[in-house]
Amino acid sequence: MAAPYSSSKAGKFVSTISEIAQNREDAAVKAQLLEDEQNRENAQSWGAAVGLQGDKITIRGGIPLIGRIELKGAKNLVTKAMVASLLGESPSILKNVPNISDVRIVRELLAVHGVKVTDGPEPGELLLDPVDVESAHFAAIDAHAGSSRIPILFCGPLLHRLGEAFIPDLGGCRIGDRPIDFHLEVLRKFGAVVDKQPNGIRMSAPNGLHGAKVSLPYPSVGATEQVLLTAVRAEGITELKGAAIEPEIMDLINILQKMGAIITVDTDRVIRIEGVERLEGFNHRALFDRNEAASWAAAALATDGDIFVGGARQSEMLTFLNVFRKVGGAFEIHDDGIRFYHPGGDLKPVVIETDVHPGFMTDWQQPLVIALTHAHGVSIVHETVYEQRFGFVDALVEMGATIQIHRECLGGHPCRFGQRNFNHSAVIAGPTKLHGADIEVPDLRGGFSHLIAALTAEGTSTVSNVGIISRGYENFITKLRLLGADFDLEG
Ligand code: EPU
Repeated sequence: MAAPYSSSKAGKFVSTISEIAQNREDAAVKAQLLEDEQNRENAQSWGAAVGLQGDKITIRGGIPLIGRIELKGAKNLVTKAMVASLLGESPSILKNVPNISDVRIVRELLAVHGVKVTDGPEPGELLLDPVDVESAHFAAIDAHAGSSRIPILFCGPLLHRLGEAFIPDLGGCRIGDRPIDFHLEVLRKFGAVVDKQPNGIRMSAPNGLHGAKVSLPYPSVGATEQVLLTAVRAEGITELKGAAIEPEIMDLINILQKMGAIITVDTDRVIRIEGVERLEGFNHRALFDRNEAASWAAAALATDGDIFVGGARQSEMLTFLNVFRKVGGAFEIHDDGIRFYHPGGDLKPVVIETDVHPGFMTDWQQPLVIALTHAHGVSIVHETVYEQRFGFVDALVEMGATIQIHRECLGGHPCRFGQRNFNHSAVIAGPTKLHGADIEVPDLRGGFSHLIAALTAEGTSTVSNVGIISRGYENFITKLRLLGADFDLEG
């Protein structure tokens, strides 16, 4: 017979549940602390890799950014172009390469695989010699675990060159789960054998790689690049449906064609690739960084400033320029760049939905949100590419912004995240005046937006972990000085 129910048992039961809850909370807090610690360590090493003398910047806000800066090549093309050099039987030359820590990481990863990477005669020129590609020691690859997302793109080229590849755990910004299921599925379709191990993924291609029919469930940039970098030397024909068609992908296709690849871009996101037996090195000047251009444009608008972004081009930024104008920003298109400025008058609220190209890039929303805190009215940003790209907003609220984050799809169209409990819509009510605070950079674009927030705020702000920003913004400290910002960099 069951023992009679007693209040002391009930008490025990309750305390067990609350203990479990407490333990779970403790575990979550512990995991968060560990992640923050890792973020700080990464920030320091990323900054140090490009010569950044400090990791904390104290900004005295309220000064309009005015002047001219020059862009180099796009982070999201250059790093992939460097991987493409692995496919050539002869050396490649890549020009317009920014000195950012993501480039440093890929350079080191190429070096551990036997690619000789040296600086060319022109500033920003890299010579990549893949003639002696070799398997890397596990420890040398594993040393780059958690540093970037680029290692996954080494798979196809390494499988062609060596018949095997090992990929460490991936890093990248904390803006969502960022799974690699599409990549692994694509590689399996080409004939790769994928073996997931505790600290990475080992792959082999015992029967070589063969062209395949691939249909992506979402136009993923990385998975499209995976298909391109694998298919160009796979035997036979590959048909990719649902491809991403970002300008950086088109520039990667330009590079692969220079190397000898045969690639057709059809309508409706279909790309066809005829595999060839041999590819040579390339000589290429990388496409400009439109994400960096949009970031400085957003900084000009939010600080009431006027910035000429040398190297920016209209055709890759049409969607951004439309939104910039709707918010109340002005721009002038020149042959050698674009001038972005605040023409005076009130900024206006907008509704933005981020999307794959040719939509409004997810990387543009974080910097632009600061200008939206100054707009007169309610703006909505519906993030449909990454499920957690509003981590940077807490600091803005601390600085006086009125921003609410919602699980629902606000702004018009339902997206993949709508029914899945992700906080992916932001409602920004303005105008608000931001005031100085001590804030910590959470991720690359969120970090740049924190810089803008501090530059517009009343009083002094301290922004730490700024090394993260050096992953994607070349010489941002020098550029801030050139534009007249008032700040000190501390160690
Ligand atoms: N996705 C999957 N499975 C996959 C791959 C992607 O579910 O196997 C999902 C992602 O989780 C995400 C969506 O697909 O929700 C889009 O991801 P995508 O693969 O397009 O992004 P990515 O290749 O990882 C690149 C850029 C990002 C940029 C996005 C979108 C690089 C190194 N990164 O990421 O850039 O935001 O495309 O354009 O090229 C940045 O520069 O700050 C940055 C995050």
